[in-house]
Amino acid sequence: MQLTWTHLARQSGALALCAMGASLALAQTPAKLKVGLMLPYTGTFASLGTAIENGFRQHVNELGGKIAGREVEYFKVDDESEPAKATDNVNKLIKRDQVDVLIGTVHSGVAMAMAKAAKESGTLLIVPNAGADAVTGAMCAPNIFRSSFSNWQPGYAMGEVMAKKGIKKVVTITWKYAAGDESVKGFKESFEKGGGMVVKELSLPFPNVEFQGLLTEIAATKPDAVFTFFAGGAAVKFVKDYAAAGLKTSIPLYGSGFITDGNLEAQGAAADGIITALHYADSLDTKRDKAFRLAYAKTFKMQPDVYAVQGYDAAQMLAIGLNATKGDATKAAEISAALGKATIDSPRGPFTISPSHNPVQDFYIRQAGAKENKKIGIASAKLADPGRGCKM
Ligand code: BEZ
Repeated sequence: MQLTWTHLARQSGALALCAMGASLALAQTPAKLKVGLMLPYTGTFASLGTAIENGFRQHVNELGGKIAGREVEYFKVDDESEPAKATDNVNKLIKRDQVDVLIGTVHSGVAMAMAKAAKESGTLLIVPNAGADAVTGAMCAPNIFRSSFSNWQPGYAMGEVMAKKGIKKVVTITWKYAAGDESVKGFKESFEKGGGMVVKELSLPFPNVEFQGLLTEIAATKPDAVFTFFAGGAAVKFVKDYAAAGLKTSIPLYGSGFITDGNLEAQGAAADGIITALHYADSLDTKRDKAFRLAYAKTFKMQPDVYAVQGYDAAQMLAIGLNATKGDATKAAEISAALGKATIDSPRGPFTISPSHNPVQDFYIRQAGAKENKKIGIASAKLADPGRGCKM
């Protein structure tokens, strides 16, 4: 085709219009939402970190990859469940990557360092697992939320159930760090209120798995039952060692549900019959949970667990908060007000957020068997953490 001056003039006009349109569109496109995932991708909690990220991504994908109109961009740090590295790690996300929101983590000790950094910098933080009581207690802040539980909650729920069963003498066994100590403390509070007695508290440092000496001590003490908190890969070993030591048939093992959640495939028959309390179960049989589980299994080629649910709900909470501020993650008071009014439509069942920003939720009694943590009752309905020490 021969180009005339008229053609060229028309084309350059159209080009100018195009360029104007493009820059207008650019001006209207909100900046990407930088989400910092600080989770364990190595070590005994590695599978928990992956499940949380999967769940979070699942909900973001359901929203078309955007939250409050902002395209989500991920920044990731492996925290290795290592409290000594936590401040440096969280600052990689806050200072280097300048994320809008922090999602993390699994380990209570690491989460407390994250909460301190979030509080000092004002960065929005949603904790998708770690139960450290202080995060929604003494360290609470308008910009800090949790989509999971406090360590006190499952321990307290299990203590009530065991006391009602008439169990009298219990030995506890766990790791010596915030999650273990606080789970046992919550357990002891309700169990002893209900007439039981903790006769011995056994522990070993995190993440050690040399259980043999402690199992021998349990056998010698002969309690009515054992209450435990372990999670991840170590929980698999503990349950197998407990059965191999011959204790499974003589001294029933109870725990907060992390002992078996996500672990039944690896624990096999050694886990059969273990009764636990948790805010999720494999057999809730609700439309909401069935749809979540189906979509998760299809995308990630594995079954979801409590950690996946907590990740999914962290994304739901983020969306509720940011929809209220038109995508501005710095408006903590408005995010807090929106979440304070919300009922989160979780696969675990609906839950609300307490004034100290922790889920108020049902705790189920579950029994392990046939590779399922089957719901067999409600341990404690709408259980709220007391939020001790929180001044907001
Ligand atoms: C914690 O450190 O808070 C924790 C770790 C794994 C499962 C549950 C709690």
